[in-house]
Amino acid sequence: MTAKIFDRSETQEFLQVLSGLTNDKGNPRVKEITHRLMSDLFKAIDDLNITPDEYWTAIAWVNEIGASGQAGLISPGLGLDHYLDERLDAIDEELGIQNGTPRTIEGPLYVAGAPVSTGFARLDDGTDTDGHTLIMHGKVYGADGKTLSGATVEVWHCDTRGFYSHFDPTGKQAPFNMRRTIITDDEGCYKFQSIVPKGYGVPPGSPTEQLLSALGRHGQRPAHIHFFISADGHRKLTTQINIAGDPLVNDDFAYATRDGLVPDVIERTDADSIQANNLNGPFAEIVFDVHLTPLVNGVDNQVNLQRKRAAA
Ligand code: DHB
Ligand code: FE
Repeated sequence: MTAKIFDRSETQEFLQVLSGLTNDKGNPRVKEITHRLMSDLFKAIDDLNITPDEYWTAIAWVNEIGASGQAGLISPGLGLDHYLDERLDAIDEELGIQNGTPRTIEGPLYVAGAPVSTGFARLDDGTDTDGHTLIMHGKVYGADGKTLSGATVEVWHCDTRGFYSHFDPTGKQAPFNMRRTIITDDEGCYKFQSIVPKGYGVPPGSPTEQLLSALGRHGQRPAHIHFFISADGHRKLTTQINIAGDPLVNDDFAYATRDGLVPDVIERTDADSIQANNLNGPFAEIVFDVHLTPLVNGVDNQVNLQRKRAAA
């Protein structure tokens, strides 16, 4: 059947009513957005002849996504997080702002309150014995091109099983394992010791994975390390680096890979380097400098205070 009812005046009036546009209470912005999204959904049901069976299958899936707390997981999988980044880039372009270090998605697995130290931190607690030691460091630069001391570098990543502390299904990791906040030193440097993370995959059998499978897609990310970098007078930067050489670097289900965010990984085996870092064996080294952008008319025009960061 190809019955079309979207353009009927009764349907259009119904959309106005159900979106609250015919009453004077509530929130005008919520009404505007609801009206647009419901109109697009009604039209899609009409255009694609979405059956009640298909519709109620989708509702059951939405319930599963909510019950398992996975709305923040499927969001990057459907490209929405990356799309929001592309829009911020476009806004910056209009304002003539050049991001020396590209932004990329936050992902759903940040936890506030990690231990703070100045200059250097060890991120891992040594219990992930499959891990290859990583030394990562760099300088944070301000809008004037000078290094910024006292900048805040928040860093978090997963272990060699692809699990993040606070979200580890095995419960194995201590709170804040592989999560730290490092304040840059007098030279604007941050440095940390950790282990090289492995790739991450969405939980097997999860509603997130079910949808991706139906799309013929996988739910894997290349190994990556997340950062928030902030400093007085500058906009907070949300970004990640990928571990170069990971086979999924250009096949990330969350679409976070960007040019400029895949620094070289240098394998250090010489005694001098090992000794200089107080290590006992070979390690991987990544150097990654960060360039922040200035506030816009005195404010961070991109700050995102509303976002709820779900606990594990
Ligand atoms: C997801 C997980 C991540 O570690 C990440 O950085 C981005 C997205 C996810 O499960 O959707
Ligand atoms: Fe991640």
